[in-house]
Amino acid sequence: MDTASAETKPAVNGDKADFLPLKNWDHIEFYTGNAKQSAFYYQYAMGFRLTAYSGLETGNRDRASYLLEQGKIRFVLSTPYHPGSFLSDHINKHGDGVRDIALEVDDAASAFHETTKRGAEPVLEPTKIEDENGYIIRSAIKTYGDTIHSFIERKNYKGLFLPGFADASAKAIKDIKDVGLRSVDHMVGNVELGKMNFYVNFYAKVMGFNQLLSFDDKDISTEYTALMSKVMQNGTGKIKFPINEPAAGKKKSQIDEYLEFYHSAGVQHIAMSTTNIVETVSELKRRGVEFLRVPTSYYEELEARVGKIDENIEELSKHGILVDRDDDGYLLQLFSKPIEDRPTVFFEIIQRKGAKSFGKGNFKALFEAIEREQAVRGTL
Ligand code: FE2
Repeated sequence: MDTASAETKPAVNGDKADFLPLKNWDHIEFYTGNAKQSAFYYQYAMGFRLTAYSGLETGNRDRASYLLEQGKIRFVLSTPYHPGSFLSDHINKHGDGVRDIALEVDDAASAFHETTKRGAEPVLEPTKIEDENGYIIRSAIKTYGDTIHSFIERKNYKGLFLPGFADASAKAIKDIKDVGLRSVDHMVGNVELGKMNFYVNFYAKVMGFNQLLSFDDKDISTEYTALMSKVMQNGTGKIKFPINEPAAGKKKSQIDEYLEFYHSAGVQHIAMSTTNIVETVSELKRRGVEFLRVPTSYYEELEARVGKIDENIEELSKHGILVDRDDDGYLLQLFSKPIEDRPTVFFEIIQRKGAKSFGKGNFKALFEAIEREQAVRGTL
């Protein structure tokens, strides 16, 4: 998983002017084998609203893309119509996965020039894209694996989402209630053995991020598996990217398993916040979303470990919700099982009550839960 608490390190670039001011997460684009069916899952099981669409009916002969929204979270699911494209090759190699962690900026040309002059590999030069609702400027750079960061400048655009997308309310499932997901809290990348510091330096030098935390295999290990993790965040602290790499353990770590099935570095999980995790998780479970489960003994030791909390421990136990405390408060979290057949991408549901960390106190119980799943898959 990602990372933890008291060992907050001083900022790497904290004293420098922010050359890459990021307004917020813009959207996360998944390349998927069947976006139409995935959109059904995100609506029906996860409570997203289908709001915009681009495809054959809108004149897009290349791909279908569905925009799904909940709170401030925007997911785009894209599927190719034909073989032989980068998109179809991406799905062939990685299965369903995150292609683009798109970030909103005021100036996408500046974001491109500032990052590429510091060594970022360009993917898309600043490009004006327009329709009857105005225009956006989009640029993009590469990060780990086949993952990219698009920079989206949307201040001159009044449409629903991006040029080329049309209203999708006619395609949306009616009467879908959201499950209380509010925003993206952090997104974690798994990178190859020995590459963690390379990407820590990438986010520091190329994107001006600071290092928030660091964990090594002494912090994050079980009898069988180990990993190392560092957390990078942007100047405002809104955008947080923990980066994991495997460490030598007796058996294959969850990071190794991910890399084996994703066939490169990539996004491991997306953490989404809620203001009522008990309601959110019980509703997600009712709709069929599967979560990891820790042993009930976890709850016998819980109060001794985290002290008094507002929530009823029996209720947390019933739903398998995890708790951790740091110097600033506590957090509640729960991890889904992989959301596709390959054991790769999954979701985290998180509710922060002051805590700024990532649940280090839960790593051991959690990894053991993952190892039980790996054992069943024959990948431990
Ligand atoms: Fe996380």
